Amino acid sequence: MNDKKFYVSTPIYYVNDKPHIGHAYTTILADVLARYHRRLDIPTFFLTGTDEHGQKVQKAADEHRMTPQEQCDTTVVRFKELWKKLDISNDHFIRTTDPEHKKVVQAILQNLFDRDLIYKAEYEGHYCVPCERFFTAKDLVEGNLCPECRRPTNNIVESNYFFRMSNYQEWLIDYINTHPDFIQPAFRANETLGFLKQPLSDLCISRPKSRLAWGIELPFDNDYVCYVWFDALINYISGVGYMTDEEKFKKWWPVSYHLIGKDILTTHTVYWPTMLKAMGVEMPQSIFAHGWWLTGREKMSKSLGNVVNPMEMCDRYGVDAFRYFLMAEMPLGQDASFTEEAFVTRYNSDLANDLGNLLSRVVKMTLRQTNGVIPQPEAYGEDEKDLMAEIDRAVAELPQMLDEMKLNRGLEVVMQAIRAGNRYMEKTAPWTLAKKGETGRLNTVLYCSAELLRKAATLLHPVMPHKMTELLEALGMTGEAAANPDIAQLNDDKNVLSGLKMNDILALFLRIQAEEPAAKPLPQEKPAKPAKQENKPQAAKTEMPEGLITIDEFFRTQLKTAKVMEAERVEGADKLLKLQIDVGGEMRQLVAGVAQYYAPEQILGKTIVIVANLKPAKIRGIESQGMLLAAKNADGLKIVTIDGNMPSGISIG
Ligand code: ME8
Ligand code: MG
Repeated sequence: MNDKKFYVSTPIYYVNDKPHIGHAYTTILADVLARYHRRLDIPTFFLTGTDEHGQKVQKAADEHRMTPQEQCDTTVVRFKELWKKLDISNDHFIRTTDPEHKKVVQAILQNLFDRDLIYKAEYEGHYCVPCERFFTAKDLVEGNLCPECRRPTNNIVESNYFFRMSNYQEWLIDYINTHPDFIQPAFRANETLGFLKQPLSDLCISRPKSRLAWGIELPFDNDYVCYVWFDALINYISGVGYMTDEEKFKKWWPVSYHLIGKDILTTHTVYWPTMLKAMGVEMPQSIFAHGWWLTGREKMSKSLGNVVNPMEMCDRYGVDAFRYFLMAEMPLGQDASFTEEAFVTRYNSDLANDLGNLLSRVVKMTLRQTNGVIPQPEAYGEDEKDLMAEIDRAVAELPQMLDEMKLNRGLEVVMQAIRAGNRYMEKTAPWTLAKKGETGRLNTVLYCSAELLRKAATLLHPVMPHKMTELLEALGMTGEAAANPDIAQLNDDKNVLSGLKMNDILALFLRIQAEEPAAKPLPQEKPAKPAKQENKPQAAKTEMPEGLITIDEFFRTQLKTAKVMEAERVEGADKLLKLQIDVGGEMRQLVAGVAQYYAPEQILGKTIVIVANLKPAKIRGIESQGMLLAAKNADGLKIVTIDGNMPSGISIG
């Protein structure tokens, strides 16, 4: 990529309907890339907007009994509101009904017409309204179906204007072959080259007003409007000053990335480059087509009771987690599936457990040991060197992964460093160092774990701007350093943390509790047929055999895994141990009557099972928040532990 500037665009979305997860995805992706480049001190321009002309919008307006302009003005608000909610930091929002854009489109049309690159001819074609594209009879599939979306096309015979796209076929094939980054991923370039094996026809760029009046009028024939795609693609240059602000245009063009979904590959890799070539404008550096989110509108079925509305998830679990999930879950270029299960799993493991847990451990420990002041570290030992190497690897690799458009892998490298941070805390056991009075080493551990968090939060900030600012503030950072942490400066090893005072923080990401099974109807539980219901308005109440409970009753008891972080005897009570336990990032104190069977060091570090929703009680004046499970008989007592490795805070049932 060009190091001196970064210009990224999204498709401009049709305003025939409200935005959905796919629109949200491309726009968040562009936003994350834009934010990363700004944090790397690279001048950045991020353009998004709406595609407002054409038959699709006209049709929606008719259905809503509005004028097309009213349809646009109503729907554009929904996009703008959603972008606000999703923290989209676009530098400009272009609407193709903007007067400046219309003027540029008309100037381009006139120029091409004057140079005989646009001509008039009689035409017969098959038009697909959902795709807004003409096809020839031989393109159609199964009779008259559109080859792209397989919906019926309309047969149309009329006089129209054509752009001499066919002039550029050989040039385009050659350009794609000699510019391997032009269309990404590479397999999409092959798809376009495959398309270009057929003779390329000229592009019909007009619609007679008698058939469709909603569009930009052709400057050389006011009986016609411009074809919506020809108008829409021009947004990428009109939006950065083409023909209106040459200095601005020179600064940003060529675009670094046109981000698109794979559905609009041909228009972007055939129509657009040939249009630019005819205009004498430089080619985009890269057109990147990502895959589809299969929300499973097909796969998710109402009968399974698992229909997920991603926007609702965003409301429930927060914008930052939603952004993180979309970026981490989809390998760029491939399809991915959006399910609530996948969302909850990733959220709980990456965000609540790995990241949230580490932050809460570090903050609690520092508050306890040094009154929250981040100490000066002493000389690093092997453990510290390893840990810092891990996060520095992420600092080095993330920008590389961004250049290679492997964002999900870049994020994974950061998460690996965070997991190393949790292992480091367990290995160095700062609570034991404190007890043994090894202050120097303790200071190093507290500093290094905070430093790891600072770097990780800076790297993750473009994906989760709010939460990572909260994290940096918990470490004691303020102002711009917390609001806009600079990735470019992560490389100089300045100590910016020692002396800052940490702030206590509630869980950064609250764990999502698995829904009670009763809330989800089982697939085989078909509703009773209405006829039967009439006879038996209420199903007979099943009697519960004595001594049994329902599954609902069982799940009222929340059992969870917990990790014992500290353990000590309770003075004057020889049966009791006082434990500090970690429950998925939340620290709790628990008093357990196990001291006759377990010495403190025997229980330390164990992953135990606790009743997490027990009313807190005072035992010998000490508060106990929960209860651990143990088996006891005349021979002794054994604590219930987990068979193998499991993080803390996991629900058991
Ligand atoms: O095509 N998964 O607009 P559009 C991932 N106006 N991305 C998806 C998606 C999904 N399931 N569904 C939609 C148009 N998208 C034209 C573009 S550009 C000059 C004109 C995203 O409203 C993806 O980016 O149909 C896709 O290309 C775009 O929305 C299509 O939006
Ligand atoms: Mg579409």
